[in-house]
Amino acid sequence: MSDEFYRIKRMPPYVIAEVNAMRHAARQAGRDIIDLGMGNPDQPPPQHVIDKLCEVAAKPTAHGYSQSKGIPGLRKAQANYYGRRFNVDLDPEREVVVTMGSKEGLSSMATAISAPGDVILAPSPAYPIHTYGFIIAGATIRSVPTTPDERYWKALDNAMAYTVPRPTVLVVNYPSNPTAETVDLAFYERLVAWARENRVWILSDLAYSELYYDGKPTRSILEVPGAKDVAVEFTSMSKTFSMAGWRIGFCVGNPELVAALTRVKSYLDYGAFTPIQAAACAALNGPQDVVEENRLRYQSRRDVMVESFTRAGWPIPNPPASMFTWAELPPGFEDMGSLEFSKQLLEHAGVAVAAGVGFGEEGEGFVRIAMVENEQRIRQAARNVKRFLAEHARG
Ligand SMILES: Cc1ncc(COP(=O)(O)O)c(C=O)c1O
Repeated sequence: MSDEFYRIKRMPPYVIAEVNAMRHAARQAGRDIIDLGMGNPDQPPPQHVIDKLCEVAAKPTAHGYSQSKGIPGLRKAQANYYGRRFNVDLDPEREVVVTMGSKEGLSSMATAISAPGDVILAPSPAYPIHTYGFIIAGATIRSVPTTPDERYWKALDNAMAYTVPRPTVLVVNYPSNPTAETVDLAFYERLVAWARENRVWILSDLAYSELYYDGKPTRSILEVPGAKDVAVEFTSMSKTFSMAGWRIGFCVGNPELVAALTRVKSYLDYGAFTPIQAAACAALNGPQDVVEENRLRYQSRRDVMVESFTRAGWPIPNPPASMFTWAELPPGFEDMGSLEFSKQLLEHAGVAVAAGVGFGEEGEGFVRIAMVENEQRIRQAARNVKRFLAEHARG
């Protein structure tokens, strides 16, 4: 009997899980760990959303299988969101599908549209599902940079010129996890033109659509006229409404891609629990000031984090969006490697961060720090970091 499973051989252990296990062990041992590792919102969803969940769950008829592609009201609510936020028209029947979180949507899409031998263009560093969704499907990844500068365009053109078979899909994710980089509409215009010319599908991950700062809203690729011919976009309730555990996301845009994903999902699942979908409708259709409050909370955390870490001797970048800062290893630790640095920071400073190498080769030398604790705890983390840097810096 072989235990050399084809797909398992291609999936190294999730690096983030290693530091998570250490954090868990430290907490079990009674230590206070400030967890800036996972992008897991620390706030509850709005109360009216929780109330709707409870109200619908109390109905005897709400407990059967739901609809795999999402209940009609939720698909309509998502189409309305794109209308008011991006001025993009979507047909809730053909151009919207509900997913069990955008992570599931991305991986089911990879299953739907790729096969062994296909070449997929994905960023490095990247959120792991952008590559592993396709690796699990048996496809091959050709990495392109995450930073959207001229090197990026050159890498895309080289990929088309020198890869056999030609790549079929490009994954983009702005605001980026992990780098927090953003793009403007001109970038998406150029990307849509490139995809048309090269006959490549675009999957855009817009999980951080509403976590933007300093009054500069994120843009959607679907705002580009004709983008729906080549692209779909994934969004999520997880960060916008702090509903990460509820597992609701969306894929919208190109009807062929939406249909392919819907087909695969019809074999794989029966959709999210109906009361969760009804509560997600309440979130999207209800008062939107909660979205603004959430954004401002992260923005002030960001300000505190950048200021206090920099003062502690670790100058970290000021992210324009997302819930992360993507920081080079601090002075004196540059050669340690991001995984070892993260372990030491956890051990000696009681602060958990995500090792950059967990996001791909290009992530080495960096860590991702998430703004998922309150301002007081972030200041405490900075004080711990300051002590750690003074006691452990090499050279
Ligand atoms: C870029 C990006 N895409 C997708 C996801 C997954 O979101 P969801 O909870 O909707 O599956 C995350 C979660 O952190 C993310 O950072």
